[in-house]
Amino acid sequence: KRVAILISGGGSNMLRLIESMTGDHPARPVLVASNDPSAAGLAHAAALDVPTAAVDHRDFPRDRAGFESALLEPLLAAQPDIICLAGFMRILTDGFVRRFQGRMLNIHPSLLPKYPGLDTHARAIAAGDAEAGATVHLVTPELDAGPILGQTRVPILPGDTPETLAARVLVQEHRLYPAVLRHFAKGQGEAVLL
Ligand code: GRF
Repeated sequence: KRVAILISGGGSNMLRLIESMTGDHPARPVLVASNDPSAAGLAHAAALDVPTAAVDHRDFPRDRAGFESALLEPLLAAQPDIICLAGFMRILTDGFVRRFQGRMLNIHPSLLPKYPGLDTHARAIAAGDAEAGATVHLVTPELDAGPILGQTRVPILPGDTPETLAARVLVQEHRLYPAVLRHFAKGQGEAVLL
């Protein structure tokens, strides 16, 4: 299976996904693309010999469709079977999503369906939740709302800030996403609960 990964920044999840696709793993990374040409993850992907592409969304002000058609060029050329959004911070149009629906995954730093959208850790702390976590789901047109493929839960500790909680969750994201991708690439549907 050919996997393309979309990032916007550091790409720590992208790196763990690339590192996991070795040996008897049924998938291999074929592209890392970003909406930000300065995304640090692009250099890390290149260092691992994964082809990269960047389409600056700022070149398409108020033209989401234009940005996406530019992004589609290298993406379709890579002929991916699976697309993984990993720290990708652009909202995709329904049309783009429908093109890949059923084979586009995203990782979101909350226990969906709680806290779709941004600032998930601050919201969980403010709500007095005992737990937080991350979710890997299939991408559908509704933001952060598709079928859940896997989740990981971490405790919220007294004195946690959004930063300390995010760091604790990120460690588990790095375990969850590779596990879910391996399952998904093998065609195994049952959810991964870490
Ligand atoms: C992480 O919090 C992840 O949950 C979210 O983007 C953040 C950065 O991810 N999707 P990465 O280090 O760029 O993979």
